[in-house]
Amino acid sequence: MDLVEPVKLRVLTLKDLDAITDIDESLLGTQRKDYWAMRLERTETSGVPSLAAEVGGRVIGFILGSASGWEYGIPDNIAWIDTLGVRKEYQKKGIARLLFREMFFMFKEVGVDTIYVLVSWRDWDLLKFFDKMGFKRGDMINLEMKI
Ligand SMILES: CC(C)(COP(=O)(O)OP(=O)(O)OC[C@H]1O[C@@H](n2cnc3c(N)ncnc32)[C@H](O)[C@@H]1OP(=O)(O)O)[C@@H](O)C(=O)NCCC(=O)NCCS
Repeated sequence: MDLVEPVKLRVLTLKDLDAITDIDESLLGTQRKDYWAMRLERTETSGVPSLAAEVGGRVIGFILGSASGWEYGIPDNIAWIDTLGVRKEYQKKGIARLLFREMFFMFKEVGVDTIYVLVSWRDWDLLKFFDKMGFKRGDMINLEMKI
């Protein structure tokens, strides 16, 4: 189904904490307000602004990304998409694509030529989305040790 209302993209701020916590909880089923407070504070030093998508004044999606090296004032060539989410009832309408495209161009503007993203291989929504956006399997190997 197509959206009838226009989607507005804007910079995500700490004022969006409740909205982001709510979207996350609706998608994953866990309330993580403290975690999101910490994440949103960090977006201020992440090299590029994180973004919110609004419909009718309500936040319905967001994307958090970071460009490495920026904390030293020197943009590097590597960036990360940290996380993104779109409210269930607004999914499959192109909102995540809009958010990603905007972040993509912001990364390009600061000199980024490679974007990394870490996705669980069980997370089909995200894997399919990033496949559609043009991502391929990278050369890095995920190492872990249970302790
Ligand atoms: C992955 C996610 C961000 C996609 O958002 P979305 O707004 O529905 O994606 P879009 O509508 O912009 O889709 C862009 C493209 O990806 C494809 N796509 C997106 N989700 C897909 C899915 N689940 N299966 C197959 N294709 C998918 C779309 O078909 C579209 O391709 P097209 O233009 O060729 O049709 C959304 O499903 C989501 O938020 N999932 C939960 C993510 C999560 O757990 N985040 C962490 C907690 S916040």
